[in-house]
Parts: sequence; C-alpha cells; structure tokens
Amino acid sequence: MKSALVVYGTTEGQTRKIAEFIANALKAGGVKVDLVDSADERAALVQPTYSAAIVCGSVHQLRYQASLLHFVKDNAAWLAGIPAAFVGVSLTAALEDDESRRELEGLAEAFFRETGWTPAITRHVAGALRYTQYDYFKRLVMKLIARHQGGDTDTSRDHEYTDWDDLTRFVDEFLAATSLRESGHGDLRRS
Ligand SMILES: Cc1cc2nc3c(=O)[nH]c(=O)nc-3n(C[C@H](O)[C@H](O)[C@H](O)COP(=O)(O)O)c2cc1C
Repeated sequence: MKSALVVYGTTEGQTRKIAEFIANALKAGGVKVDLVDSADERAALVQPTYSAAIVCGSVHQLRYQASLLHFVKDNAAWLAGIPAAFVGVSLTAALEDDESRRELEGLAEAFFRETGWTPAITRHVAGALRYTQYDYFKRLVMKLIARHQGGDTDTSRDHEYTDWDDLTRFVDEFLAATSLRESGHGDLRRS
C-alpha cells in the first residue's frame, strides 16, 4: 500500500480538522496516511519515505504558520520529488472576488519562495471564525473584520465556512492525478 504524509499548521484548530478530513479521505481511497502537526516534536522525525504529501496551513495576519514554514523548508528537497499539494486555509478564501484570489495567490507564492518548495497543486479553502476560542481583543478584531467582509458577527458561537464536499472532490482529484491508488507517480512530481 502506498503511503502519504499530511502535515499541517494550525492556530485555532480548523486546519487540524481539515487535515484530518483529508487524511480520512485518502485512507478511504486505500492510502496509508501519516498525519503530523508541524508544531509537534514528531515533525522533526518525519522521514522522506512517502509517495505523496499534502501540506496544509492557515493564514494569520497574512502569513502561514512559522512551524509549517520551517518544516517545509527543512524537507523541501524530497517534497519536490513527490506528487504534493498545498492547502491554504483562510477567511479570504470564502470571498469570491478577484482581489481576494490574487491576495491568496500572493501569500502562497511568498510561502513557496521562503520555503524553496513549489507544489504542483495549490488549493485555497475557507476556514472558520472560532469566536469561542478567541480572547477579548481577538474576538473584537475578528468581529470588525467579519463585519467589514460581510461575515458572521454573532460572537456567541463559532462559524464554519469550509466546503467539505469541495474538499472531498479535491482529494479525489489528487488521488486520480497522483495515481496513489495504483502504481507510479502520475504527472504531479516536481524536481
Ligand atoms: C488573529 C487572526 C488573524 C487572521 N488573519 C487572517 C488573514 O490575514 N487573512 C485571512 O484570510 N484570514 C485570516 N484569519 C482567519 C483564519 O485564517 C481562519 O480563522 C482559519 O480558519 C484559521 O485556521 P486555524 O484554526 O487552523 O488556525 C485570521 C484569524 C485570526 C484569529
């Protein structure tokens, strides 16, 4: 059985939920999966033994998690040699205008430039407003941003914008494109 690495950076937990969903969908497709939090000490023990990888991170103040950046930078050489995808989680991804698209492309480009790794596939996924986990100041700031962007401002509960059906389609496409279900690498390898 082929094996895949799903590595993620998360701050409030939505990207962990997304990475777990992706890992389970890959497993359902017959792939053996290791799920690793880039902030966990286990991340330093990851070996370059995988047939494919999906790297997930979320945006906070226009940047992805530093732990994820370090992980990818440290592992860029072998990640570049296997089929791999980047899943960027943000609130901007919930917006459908061109400016938001360009902003997310710019953030991902900066991450790829800093890490020295550019995946064949990049997917931007809407995250969540987890008001119940924010401190007073963060809740206030996020409510103001949400109001400005037409998002949910009821801070008594969390609001999830992730499109799980779209994520299922993404994993199906990834499985098909990488031939993870069968033999061979498919055509998504970068070297
Ligand atoms: C303090 C803070 C800053 C954020 N900054 C951005 C941002 O610059 N751009 C954006 O699109 N989303 C931003 N977000 C939204 C997060 O990307 C979104 O909540 C995501 O689901 C967080 O994922 P996580 O729970 O895995 O950390 C921010 C959220 C917080 C709490």
